[in-house]
Amino acid sequence: MEILRATDYQVLSNMAAEIVAREVNSKPDCVLGLATGSTPIGLYKQLAQLHNTGKLSLSRIYGINLDEYVGLSAEHKLSYQHYMWYNFYNLIKADARHVNIPNGLAEDLKKECERYDAVIKSLGGIDLQILGIGANGHIGFNEPAEVFIKNTHVVQLHESTRKMNARFFDNMNQVPTSAITIGIGAIMRAKKILLLASGHDKSTALHKMLHSDITPQIPATILQLHSNVTIIADEESLG
Ligand code: GLP
Repeated sequence: MEILRATDYQVLSNMAAEIVAREVNSKPDCVLGLATGSTPIGLYKQLAQLHNTGKLSLSRIYGINLDEYVGLSAEHKLSYQHYMWYNFYNLIKADARHVNIPNGLAEDLKKECERYDAVIKSLGGIDLQILGIGANGHIGFNEPAEVFIKNTHVVQLHESTRKMNARFFDNMNQVPTSAITIGIGAIMRAKKILLLASGHDKSTALHKMLHSDITPQIPATILQLHSNVTIIADEESLG
């Protein structure tokens, strides 16, 4: 794993955008695995700026999002569908046919998970997977568990994750209790992985990811087995 140290969040976002831009320039129709959360917002903003000033064309990329809350509609302000359009896709006037996000309102969630895996497969897998990291070491919404789960699945969110994400909702009761997430299989099959970490809250998870034995109790430790991982972390998260 290559670790790049960023002096602050803006620098982290610019460094990340450079790596994504390099990928898009070498393969304009590449498949980008996309994350939500606060960490990649600066990256999306920077990418949109490059696109809108003619320095990069994002019009042919395909996006595959990592996850979505179960029970929130696409219009819900806190759904990841809304997040992606608000923070990225609207800014680059993306073609909706290139946008893939699990449907958290699907009647048959198991079928939706199978559909999503089929979409990833039909696109030939993920070229560059962007990841954040949860304070408990989750990636996507692959929460600490007894085993690594390979395929897209429905996951019960841990109390600690719900508490962390409660800052976006009016109160804790509104935070969904479950989500759909792509599995560890699709993440590990990505050709390249770019993990972003910012802030003191992430220092323990980051340290464990790099130095603990590989265990599904700290899902991000599996990345130690991937041959092409770049981590961009700011000073605070590196401790
Ligand atoms: C969320 C998302 C993850 C994200 C992580 C960290 O729950 N499901 O994909 O990487 O938690 O979020 P943040 O960047 O806001 O710290």
